Amino acid sequence: MRKILITGGAGFIGSHVVRRFVNNYPDYEIYNLDSLTYAGNLENLKDIDSKPNYHFIKGDIEDADFIMEIFQKYQFDGVIHLAAESHVDRSITNPMQFVHTNVLGTVHLLNAARTIWNGNWEGKKYYQISTDEVYGALGDTGAFQETTPYNPHSPYSAAKASADHFVRAYHDTYGMPTIISNCSNNYGPNQFPEKLIPLFINNIKNNKPLPVYGKGINVRDWLYVEDHAEAIDLIFHKAKPGDTYNIGGNNEWRNIDLIKKLIEIMDRKLGRPEGTSLNLITYVTDRAGHDLRYAIDPTKIKNELGWQPKVKFDEGFEKTVDWYLANEEWFNNVTSGAYVDYYKKMYEGR
Ligand code: NAD
Ligand code: TYD
Repeated sequence: MRKILITGGAGFIGSHVVRRFVNNYPDYEIYNLDSLTYAGNLENLKDIDSKPNYHFIKGDIEDADFIMEIFQKYQFDGVIHLAAESHVDRSITNPMQFVHTNVLGTVHLLNAARTIWNGNWEGKKYYQISTDEVYGALGDTGAFQETTPYNPHSPYSAAKASADHFVRAYHDTYGMPTIISNCSNNYGPNQFPEKLIPLFINNIKNNKPLPVYGKGINVRDWLYVEDHAEAIDLIFHKAKPGDTYNIGGNNEWRNIDLIKKLIEIMDRKLGRPEGTSLNLITYVTDRAGHDLRYAIDPTKIKNELGWQPKVKFDEGFEKTVDWYLANEEWFNNVTSGAYVDYYKKMYEGR
């Protein structure tokens, strides 16, 4: 396996995956394809962008001809597909963009791989990075298993689910060696500050209200992004064609408890008296269709691949806060311009 296409490598998780593959596999050629939407930022990769085995391709997975051309030109052996529209709130205001990127973009990649690989599946792999949100929502107990039926509720998760169905269809119909993994919520450096943790770090720092949706009782299972990148590496190399793995952090938090923990860390790091920022908590109108709880049963990946999260939450959370506080320039760059309009539209009058 020599030439690997990683899509969405300028985004949050993609940048950690690209870095890991570029550093750990000097004999692989890594091609990062990204259209650099608001969420894509090449600054995320500036530490590795001069490595000889790293190549950046600016391009859009929605452009079928272009995708076919690069498959023809570079003859990739493997694909790790992360490029997506990834924010649930944006999917509620603009569902069609999610159909274009997440569904059609995926099918264009599958078509190009099918055409260029042309039935010669030996040494080939197509790996789809999916989310636990495709399984829908849990009540107070239970956890998603690989066999849990898909039951998405948001336009984001419906688009991701649809893409996954196409991936399985290409395996079952054409014999393409595909793999899918469904991961829980990631946290860590380089996440765009529309998602809960970096958004709230920024707001606490700037003494801005913290918009907690509904009652703050929704539960998410948080995994440090580098643990996800490690799981992706293992799955890419070890999974059998047609296989699926769930990836989780064994680390469930109610939003409000997570936010209080974040406030405690931030007040300490900013030298504010304990509890100062608690008064920033502002309960706002709930997200439409807000899934109550996600949780992953990690038995399969643990038993079959020996993977489990390495980074303890206390350590990972502190590290994450430190990174955002130390990288003010990154923050200022991504929160200028269009971000200001986004914030107004999403939160004013909520
Ligand atoms: P992100 O929004 O940070 O990054 C997405 C990247 O895709 C950006 O670099 C963007 O420029 C690129 N992109 C978007 N549309 C594109 C297009 N049409 N053509 C080419 N590039 C395009 O997303 P993320 O949080 O890093 O998520 C990456 C993947 O992991 C997604 O597929 C997401 O569904 C999945 N996932 C995310 C999480 C999470 O907690 N963030 C959890 C599980 C699964
Ligand atoms: P988010 O980071 O958007 O991830 P996801 O919706 O994919 O789980 O949100 C995490 C949780 O935090 C989710 O339950 C929604 C909630 N949330 C808020 O309460 N306020 C906010 O401003 C945001 C962005 C999220």
